[in-house]
Amino acid sequence: MTGGAVGIGNAYAQALLTAGWQVSVCDLREAVEDPATFNSEPDRVLGTIADVSDPADVARVIDNTMSGFGRIDALVNNAGVWRETNPTDSLPKTLDDFGAVVGTNLYGEFLFGRAVIPRMIEQGSGGDIVNIATDHMVTCGTPWDVCPRGPQCPFDRAASGFQGPPRPTGGGGSMDLYDISKWALNGLTYAWAKALRPHNIRVNAICMGATDSHMLRGFHNHAPSPEEEASWMKTSDAAEMLMDLLAEGPSGRTGQAMNACIGRPCKLEPAHTQLYVRDEDIA
Ligand SMILES: NC(=O)c1ccc[n+]([C@@H]2O[C@H](COP(=O)([O-])OP(=O)(O)OC[C@H]3O[C@@H](n4cnc5c(N)ncnc54)[C@H](O)[C@@H]3O)[C@@H](O)[C@H]2O)c1
Repeated sequence: MTGGAVGIGNAYAQALLTAGWQVSVCDLREAVEDPATFNSEPDRVLGTIADVSDPADVARVIDNTMSGFGRIDALVNNAGVWRETNPTDSLPKTLDDFGAVVGTNLYGEFLFGRAVIPRMIEQGSGGDIVNIATDHMVTCGTPWDVCPRGPQCPFDRAASGFQGPPRPTGGGGSMDLYDISKWALNGLTYAWAKALRPHNIRVNAICMGATDSHMLRGFHNHAPSPEEEASWMKTSDAAEMLMDLLAEGPSGRTGQAMNACIGRPCKLEPAHTQLYVRDEDIA
């Protein structure tokens, strides 16, 4: 688990611990080293201070995990940052923001995947990789008449309880770096899902919408209205969604990006037709 000292990742870690997992968590925050951060006994949780965008830190987290628990059955690529960015920003600001936002949200997830995948393959018992993305990336904007999902698109399933109006792509004019970092996760999720299917490693993305966390509180430092706050999803619901996904086991979905958008149930949406990973793709 990456980025679990606070926020959604902390709820994920606590839910995994409650379900009986041993959990290795890394974070920039020192609190990650304290089992009390996870309401856990020390022998079930292993915290490492680390920056997911630093290859040496990633290697250290993996080494700690292997020497502490001996194996890795799931990777939850959760650590993420948001900064206000604009196409008109100065070059120094842009370069600094690019390093922080793309470095954490994309390069960090990439590095962790690259570090964990060989171990999962070597273990030979499959596993799960879950990339935490954003709801900005799910509405692809494809016109209905050419959308390969057609009526199965999660935005057009009136009977499923997940219906809702299509949202515009992207998070707005001041999120270009955040959005490119999260959109690129589509590529990792789908490519890894396809490549790792023969090894029984499932790779999916959960695309979170506004969820009450440190990140969102920082984003809303203008003080949100009570109505706006009430609309936010809860980290505990997000954690339940993750646990439902993991509970599907080896025969569950892979190569899918699931939504959790405000105004709709924060629940694991039904699996949809495999678009990116098909049986015939596997030699
Ligand atoms: N909260 C939302 O509304 C929302 C919406 C969409 C997507 N997300 C995504 O959900 C994930 C969790 O977000 P959150 O809202 O819980 O954020 P948060 O800021 O509350 O928590 C993120 C955690 O990641 C850690 N972290 C940040 N950069 C790191 C790095 N380089 N190395 C290691 N740890 C690092 C932070 O210290 C923090 O503990 C992120 O990927 C975020 O982009 C959140």
